[in-house]
Amino acid sequence: MFMDTKVGTLVENLRAWLASSERIAVLTGAGISTESGIPDFRSEHGVWQDEDLLAAMTDRHLREAPDDFWPKYKRTFLRPEYVAAQPNDGHGAIAQLERRGKDVTVITQNVDGLHQLAGSTRVLEVHGSARFARCPRCRSEYGLDHLLAHDIPRCTREDAKGAVCGAVLHPDTVLFGQPVRHFDEAIRAIHRSDLLLVIGTSLTVEPVASLPECAQRDRTRVVIVNLEITSFDARADLVIHAKAGEVLREAVR
Ligand code: APR
Repeated sequence: MFMDTKVGTLVENLRAWLASSERIAVLTGAGISTESGIPDFRSEHGVWQDEDLLAAMTDRHLREAPDDFWPKYKRTFLRPEYVAAQPNDGHGAIAQLERRGKDVTVITQNVDGLHQLAGSTRVLEVHGSARFARCPRCRSEYGLDHLLAHDIPRCTREDAKGAVCGAVLHPDTVLFGQPVRHFDEAIRAIHRSDLLLVIGTSLTVEPVASLPECAQRDRTRVVIVNLEITSFDARADLVIHAKAGEVLREAVR
């Protein structure tokens, strides 16, 4: 695999900046997982091309039509090939930075758990996780086995009299209309960092899309690695329009 010269030069820059940074915040989106076989949302073959799915992934639809919500949720986040996905070179390179002693905080919009699977230990899942679900009534938590075994997963907890709760579970994924998670912690991680790496995100969904501006206000260097142009490219300190896996593998080699 040979990168073209221009990208190669940019990657050399990134490698130098990574080597001279101690505290690194990494903001990732669906684009870091496409090389693991999980499609992103807004590219040409993105998940949101199916507008029915996009319209259904809301807190309101889950509460008003759970029997319609869950099959669409599974088509969006829990297809067998997504659940079986493995981390790629991009996830691996980020975990490698941590193994080299860098203070790395991953702020991910992804719900696939691949950063943790690759070995990253400080991962803020600001849009939650597709690997869990909770009962809205008794707060019992359920994992993938239960979610994949039922079309409409329900709570199986029994009360003292042996009556089964039976409520339809709510996925741990943040749906449109729900608050994001760990956001203050994400901002603190960026304030502390010498470098913010923005990988594989179109930066179109707030409030996450505003995080690079937080970094810039602190004069933290911002690097964007994305196949397509993002709304922050013009303000970033370094922009590399290439595949995340290749760029990060070379930059951390
Ligand atoms: N390498 C680098 N960039 C890539 C790659 C790759 N291999 N594959 C795709 N990309 C880029 C695309 O060009 C696109 O700009 O990743 C970006 C992914 O953008 P989106 O599909 O919008 O995904 P994301 O930014 O994560 O969406 C944010 O929107 O719908 C919500 O909750 C959902 O978390 C998601 C949020």
